[in-house]
Amino acid sequence: MTDRSEFVVVANRLPASVHRTGTGAEVWRRSPRGLVNALEPLLRKRSGTWVGWPGTSGTVTPPESLGRIRFSPVSLDEHAVASFYEGFSNSTLWPLYHDVVMPPAYRRSWWDSYVEVNRRFAEAAAEVSAPGATVWIHDYQLQLAPAMVRELRPDVRIGFFLHIPFPPVELFMRLPWRTEIVRGLLGADLIGFQRPGGAQNFLWLSRTLTGAAQVPKQVGAGPLGGAIDLGHRSVSVGSFPISVDAGTWDTLSRDPRVRDRAEQIRATLGNPRRVLLGVDRLDYTKGIDVRLHALGELLREGRLNARDTVMVQIAIPSRERVEHYRLMRRAVEREVGRLNGEFGAVGHPAVHYLHSSIDQRELAAFYRAADVAVVTPLRDGMNLVCKEYVASRHDLTGALVLSEFAGAAGELTDSFLVNPYHVEEVKQAIMQAVTLPEADTRSRMRRLRDHVLDHDIDHWATSFLDELATEHVKVAT
Ligand code: F6P
Repeated sequence: MTDRSEFVVVANRLPASVHRTGTGAEVWRRSPRGLVNALEPLLRKRSGTWVGWPGTSGTVTPPESLGRIRFSPVSLDEHAVASFYEGFSNSTLWPLYHDVVMPPAYRRSWWDSYVEVNRRFAEAAAEVSAPGATVWIHDYQLQLAPAMVRELRPDVRIGFFLHIPFPPVELFMRLPWRTEIVRGLLGADLIGFQRPGGAQNFLWLSRTLTGAAQVPKQVGAGPLGGAIDLGHRSVSVGSFPISVDAGTWDTLSRDPRVRDRAEQIRATLGNPRRVLLGVDRLDYTKGIDVRLHALGELLREGRLNARDTVMVQIAIPSRERVEHYRLMRRAVEREVGRLNGEFGAVGHPAVHYLHSSIDQRELAAFYRAADVAVVTPLRDGMNLVCKEYVASRHDLTGALVLSEFAGAAGELTDSFLVNPYHVEEVKQAIMQAVTLPEADTRSRMRRLRDHVLDHDIDHWATSFLDELATEHVKVAT
């Protein structure tokens, strides 16, 4: 019993990944993600455990702990990876929740696997939780786990946070298992969404699909939160916009080695007048095609010139066995090739395209090297790249073009906000960003930075966990 934890994080992935040495030995490295950094002090203080999948279907042996975070691995075999992860999570829920930008597939066998894998995560969480522990479950892969944990361990306090957008009710209602998902989430004491609209949609669905009553309650950041009264207990619902480890990005970007590397990157690019930057997982929701299209038209119209303006697109490999992702990669790479064929010269491509992962220090150098970050998702829960970029511009230079369909658009109103479906608007915003007078650039960036540095990932985690700590009180009716 003594090694049970008072604080348990449950997420699809463990915050570590395995690498093989030349001799085939496993080396585990901690993921540099903001979420881990934000939760690590709490996990340490409260002898916390992280329940998650090691990220491979092969046989691997994650360490019992890493960086003083205890691990409780949930292994997935090849069938579960194909049906729970690539299937229901990433071919049903992911496109459905991102406004159906690709058609979701509804397969009963994937659903069965989703139920089974959620149960295994819930069992692992129940096993490692101390009496009265706080269990924080994350994201769309695990929406049934809150009710399953509650069934096994009614004594624990359960929070759930959805990192991706929660869809409009008309789209959610298409899901054959809509009531099961809503009931699964209602197992939590507190459910957090990125944006107030997501919370509002969920409250409507809870009333409609379960017949439960909604009671007024101020929850989270936005005005549209509330509580669902289940009779014997209540569930609070609100928005908690996630952020980045802003201090770390700020410090990194001031590091002279990062500055030197940024200069080196610009020199390698041919010291152009302007560098536009895109950084994304290679995902069809990210609108990489949107910005390439806009750039192509600006070059064709002669409003930009590839001799003095280049784009760098870093595309981080993702979900490569899922069909839509394969098609997306092909389309993006074809377009990059076309633009370089049309506008590049020997040694001077118009678009520098990298299909690879990138470590945090190198990414900070790219953020420093870029004059404009172009972030044009068709839909995005929050989008952390734009917040990382802002946190990295300590000298107040740089401008941000941002899709209004990224969650971050609700906060980063000093960016150039665009409708990514409106190519003329995207072009216009890029032109404004590259021609903005210095004083305006500085004042916009100052306001953007003030917001991101104040509302960092610690602020997010603390506001969610403080709210969760006040739950458990039955709403008076
Ligand atoms: O944004 C949602 C999310 O699932 C994150 O939690 C995760 O870091 C990212 O997408 C990558 O997803 P995957 O774990 O499928 O590689």
